[in-house]
Amino acid sequence: MTQRLTIRRPDDWHVHLRDGAMLEAVAGYTARQFARAIVMPNLTPPVTSVAAARDYRARILAALGEGARFEPLMTCYLTDQADPDTIAAGHEEGVFTACKLYPAHATTNSAHGVTDIAAIAPVLERMQRIGMPLLIHGEVTDRSIDIFDREAVFLDRVLTPLIRDFPALRIVLEHITTAEAAVFVAEAAHPIAATITPQHLIINRNAIFDGGLRPHAYCLPVAKREAHRLAVRRAAVSGSPRFFLGTDSAPHVVGAKESACGCAGIFNAPFALETYLRVFDEEDAIDRFEGFASEHGARFYGLPLNPGTITLERVPVTVPATTGEGATAVVPFLAGETLAWRLAG
Ligand code: DOR
Ligand code: ZN
Repeated sequence: MTQRLTIRRPDDWHVHLRDGAMLEAVAGYTARQFARAIVMPNLTPPVTSVAAARDYRARILAALGEGARFEPLMTCYLTDQADPDTIAAGHEEGVFTACKLYPAHATTNSAHGVTDIAAIAPVLERMQRIGMPLLIHGEVTDRSIDIFDREAVFLDRVLTPLIRDFPALRIVLEHITTAEAAVFVAEAAHPIAATITPQHLIINRNAIFDGGLRPHAYCLPVAKREAHRLAVRRAAVSGSPRFFLGTDSAPHVVGAKESACGCAGIFNAPFALETYLRVFDEEDAIDRFEGFASEHGARFYGLPLNPGTITLERVPVTVPATTGEGATAVVPFLAGETLAWRLAG
């Protein structure tokens, strides 16, 4: 049995680092494991300008302190008012790596999101021309659609016309949760890829209702039934360069989760790599872990692979019940469970 695994330093292609005290509390978990991360822009207010992204990047680096070997890759939150020239200039300057499309009201802090793709057609046109990736929260917001169907319906109603109208637009469908999305991404004749979270590889929707309401298993897109979890697992370990690591780690203070209207989001950053490796190990696919964690994403984004390596060792580690305290107390994913692998050193 493999006891140690050394891979090229990985990246997290989708993370929420938050701001203020929470940023200070959580940024280190991501930076400890990952060389780079695509940082989500859904702050309050959202990151819509080059100046805001530059400032946010500086706050992330300040939170990590001197000597951190971590590069935050910033994203622009698209609104109906998004301006192609601003976005292209931010990309050219190296501030905006990508743009994030939240359908308005799809999830946490998405009230300013896009109400109609037609409103951002000039932006998408320009992104397509300059090769700037579009990152999509792929759920319809139509409340008449069952919440468990919102991703699959998005593929038909929004994504299919989108790739028809912008045939060269590079797209990352974020945090896929369904068999339909896995097949769509694997088979599309289009430059499209998908990120996959640890939670969608490990839990199905039963976890949200396991003996009572479990707010810490609730995120968006919500976990689906078992057949979908298995399809997403197959995609992750398939070796296809279209699937790569994106944790969607989304911390909320414990009181905001354990509430009459608990926030969506699972905080998986502290043991993200260990959790993914558990899945690859269970699937007998450890040899495909490096591609998923450290290569496919960088290649899709057209960025260099990271120099250097990290090592994981088969030594048990128990996830704590909480991390942080007070305004930064968060219950991590798999709290109290023991994982077989841990990051060495
Ligand atoms: O569960 C989620 N939490 N899904 C999202 O899309 C946003 C995120 C957050 O920011 O909390
Ligand atoms: Zn997210």
